[in-house]
Amino acid sequence: MIVLETKRMLLREMDMSDVENLQGIFADSEAMRYYPKTKNVAETEDWIRWNMSSYRVFRFGLWLALLKENGAFAGQCGLVMQRVDDLPEVEIGYLFLRKFWGQGLATEAATACRDYGVNQLGYTRLISLIDPHNRASKKVAEKIGMAFEKETFMFNKHICVYAFHATASEHPTGPS
Ligand SMILES: CC(C)(COP(=O)(O)OP(=O)(O)OC[C@H]1O[C@@H](n2cnc3c(N)ncnc32)[C@H](O)[C@@H]1OP(=O)(O)O)[C@@H](O)C(=O)NCCC(=O)NCCS
Repeated sequence: MIVLETKRMLLREMDMSDVENLQGIFADSEAMRYYPKTKNVAETEDWIRWNMSSYRVFRFGLWLALLKENGAFAGQCGLVMQRVDDLPEVEIGYLFLRKFWGQGLATEAATACRDYGVNQLGYTRLISLIDPHNRASKKVAEKIGMAFEKETFMFNKHICVYAFHATASEHPTGPS
């Protein structure tokens, strides 16, 4: 199911046929540099099952980003329910294939996910959880209007919490 459309991409729900696509990111140690480790096929299948269950429970999850021009898999971007410092938070997450880095795709997809979270789902606060050394990810967060809020400890390490706050004037089409 297609959830979102941006200038260059379609974002659709992932399913069990996407293992090979996702392995392009999860088996790449450079793309997974700020994660505990790469993921093998079985772990990638678990990841897909986890996202499919998130679609059912929360109406969102990480979606697959496909290039409109040729249908190629470019990455994944979406919304993830998290628990940060004992509070529920909705995170914007983004991971792209290395060959597509630096073309503004993550920023474009994350902007659409931000607007979907605010305008369609009614969230007024969205966050990103970022390794303190992940400069590209911090840049994407800043470019979609997030600002550094605090450092916390989760996933067994220090993590920067970046936050976006929606205001009525910024998002006039949002729910009342
Ligand atoms: C983070 C990630 C999604 C960014 O994807 P992308 O499509 O290259 O992002 P964009 O092109 O939209 O923007 C990246 C910005 O970061 C900047 N950037 C990239 N690497 C950087 C670095 N090492 N230091 C500082 N800035 C950097 C780019 O110049 C660009 O900013 P600009 O447009 O002002 O020049 C991609 O690097 C990725 O998939 N990384 C692996 C997974 C990951 O770490 N995800 C984030 C988890 S929190």
